Amino acid sequence: MTDKNPRDQNPTMKSLAIKEYCTPDQYAILTLPVPKIEQADQLLIKVHAASINPIDVKVAVGVAKRVRSEQFPFKIGYDVSGTVIAVGTEVAISSPDLTPGTEVYTRLPEECRGAVSEYVVSTISATAKKPQTISHAEAASIPLASLTTFQTFETAAEHFRDSNGLAGKTVLIPGGLSGTGTVAVQLAKRVFKAGRVVTTLSTSKIGRVNGLLGEDVLDQVIDYTKQDPLKTITPGSVDFLYDTMGQGVSYLPLMKKGGIIVSISGPPFGPELKKIMPMMPTGIRWMLNAAGGVLRFKAYMYSVTYTCQLMKPSAKDLNKLAGWIDEGKIKPVVGLKAAFGDLEKVREGCQQVYSAKGGIGKFVIEMD
Ligand SMILES: NC(=O)c1ccc[n+]([C@@H]2O[C@H](COP(=O)([O-])OP(=O)(O)OC[C@H]3O[C@@H](n4cnc5c(N)ncnc54)[C@H](OP(=O)(O)O)[C@@H]3O)[C@@H](O)[C@H]2O)c1
Repeated sequence: MTDKNPRDQNPTMKSLAIKEYCTPDQYAILTLPVPKIEQADQLLIKVHAASINPIDVKVAVGVAKRVRSEQFPFKIGYDVSGTVIAVGTEVAISSPDLTPGTEVYTRLPEECRGAVSEYVVSTISATAKKPQTISHAEAASIPLASLTTFQTFETAAEHFRDSNGLAGKTVLIPGGLSGTGTVAVQLAKRVFKAGRVVTTLSTSKIGRVNGLLGEDVLDQVIDYTKQDPLKTITPGSVDFLYDTMGQGVSYLPLMKKGGIIVSISGPPFGPELKKIMPMMPTGIRWMLNAAGGVLRFKAYMYSVTYTCQLMKPSAKDLNKLAGWIDEGKIKPVVGLKAAFGDLEKVREGCQQVYSAKGGIGKFVIEMD
């Protein structure tokens, strides 16, 4: 589809992008310049598959426009699996295994955003060799959701550092077949050795769990459309709540004293957000600090720690995840798939992510 070879002087490529803030039904495939390697630590990657995360569709509709301004056309997506085709001068020294021809996966740093494109540039600190045992479509489903989940579990394990981390602990993971949930329930048991793992799912998904993830990862599955988790889970029994669905403090009665809630979908705290959005207005930072303070105080009243987690791109963490995938400890879960050339299907998949309902695992777009 590329008009010219990417090594030509002004090559172009096709990219899923928007010209103004909009919902997925208005996403377009635009012809844009192939990104150039501008830093010594960057790599040019031919994309084979990309996946869509809630952040992609939320930012595209303009949810963050008060805290950061975007340039248009705005290229969509962070998660990529592909093949390295060119490298900056530093790459051969710092990451000699990432040579042209190497199959890699990456969560693109913000300045490189635009995963659903024929070519992307990423950095060595955000790129790792693709797991060998899975396809590009499966590998593209991993980076953002799995990095978030692994980093959150590390936060929780650190909280329990004096009592063997998460080993033997009770972990509650709402939405066990969501993008983050599918990885979380597998990491909990198979990597962090949790004692008991509980999840919530809607009716039609309950019968899918064993086939998609295996029989060993969940101890209790609650149909949240029929049963209230607050009435079904023993009060005071949960050590760690991975707050994927923003229910955080409403589940406090379920938490054990000394436990921890780590939220990825509640409002982020001001200082954390300021690190990734330095231009954020001070007023909004104060507002977020105040909201975070209220949540922390409510948790404190139950002797529970409440914190939030923002994912950081990390080649080191992607390497760890690749190892667990190749050992069979984490199975990627791809729900919907679309070919890049089929814009209607691409829009439908993005719409499902935008609605936050009905999806299983990740929505993946295949480029080849
Ligand atoms: N902080 C970070 O760095 C970070 C990173 C990644 C994601 N996030 C955020 O974390 C959240 C989850 O991300 P994700 O990728 O897992 O989302 P996702 O895959 O889009 O999650 C959607 C799924 O959640 C299920 N769901 C919705 N409401 C539910 C509820 N009340 N209880 C149980 N399941 C429910 C839905 O299943 P049903 O159809 O069965 O209802 C739906 O299929 C999003 O808000 C995302 O923006 C934050």
